[in-house]
Amino acid sequence: MVPDIPLNDGTTIPQLGFGTLNVPPERAPSEQNTAATAEIVGLALAGGYCHIDTAQMYGNEAGVGRAVAASGIPRDELYVTSKLGNGNHRPDDVRHSFAQTLDKLGLAELDLFLIHWPLPTLYDGDYVATWRAMTELVKDGRLRTQGVSNFQPDHLDRITSETGVVPAVNQIEVHPYFRNDAARAASAAHGIAVEAWSPLGQGAVLDDPVVGRIAAERQKTPAQVVLRWHIQHGHIVIPKSTRRERMEENISVFDFELSAEEMTAINALDKGADGRIGPNPDTFAWIP
Ligand SMILES: NC(=O)c1ccc[n+]([C@@H]2O[C@H](COP(=O)([O-])OP(=O)(O)OC[C@H]3O[C@@H](n4cnc5c(N)ncnc54)[C@H](OP(=O)(O)O)[C@@H]3O)[C@@H](O)[C@H]2O)c1
Repeated sequence: MVPDIPLNDGTTIPQLGFGTLNVPPERAPSEQNTAATAEIVGLALAGGYCHIDTAQMYGNEAGVGRAVAASGIPRDELYVTSKLGNGNHRPDDVRHSFAQTLDKLGLAELDLFLIHWPLPTLYDGDYVATWRAMTELVKDGRLRTQGVSNFQPDHLDRITSETGVVPAVNQIEVHPYFRNDAARAASAAHGIAVEAWSPLGQGAVLDDPVVGRIAAERQKTPAQVVLRWHIQHGHIVIPKSTRRERMEENISVFDFELSAEEMTAINALDKGADGRIGPNPDTFAWIP
């Protein structure tokens, strides 16, 4: 059973969810894409995942929506996150694209919507106006919780000081090879929950000998050890797999506990900035 963790806006979020980046690999909208996404997300929902992470830029919201509708799971037992596309930062586009997101997902209300990237070198550096537009979505009742993704400490300081609205979640790259201490500490200082993307380092950390040794000693898999490390750090995690047996493996991390020594050994795998897989949010400036 996946525990809920409290957020700073009074809501809760299931601590483990299902990531959908590259589910399926083709992002262009098509019936084939929608059907393939619906099939894989449907497997996750049938396997006990009740929290799904999608994004406008993944091109798979319609497939997620189809899987949600087919699952028969009551709406109040599901948690759905999407993220604002990099091309939609202007306030009017926030509103229009959010309406499209709800439509594709087949939902009247979204649980969590994130600014996917701060894009500080685009839009005249004005991600504050984008953040204000997200606030309106909460006020008008179509969005429960607003958050950000890939926000660095100075980006968090700026939106909170200029608007007085603190994000509930910051979804950032975190895994044993990239602990991302600065962004995690800044999030914690603001009372913002850290959600780890690429929690398995897209598979890279699973061959690490330290992780392998702990997994063998615990009779767990490397993925379970890494996900457990996140859970004990208090991170929300959203591992992705297209395979049913791995989905099951990844959600089965609530029946054991790593020792302080094991946590310290995994903490020590951090490679600092060299461990990053994804782009640096300070310079990332891609619009699809
Ligand atoms: N906000 C952002 O900017 C951002 C950026 C990146 C990702 N995300 C989100 O975070 C989610 C997770 O990140 P991610 O998909 O990049 O990477 P990830 O979850 O760290 O790793 C996924 C990779 O690991 C493999 N894998 C999964 N479970 C495994 C297991 N138990 N044993 C061995 N291999 C396993 C998967 O292969 P198979 O599919 O073949 O099993 C896939 O290649 C994404 O899906 C997306 O929702 C957000």
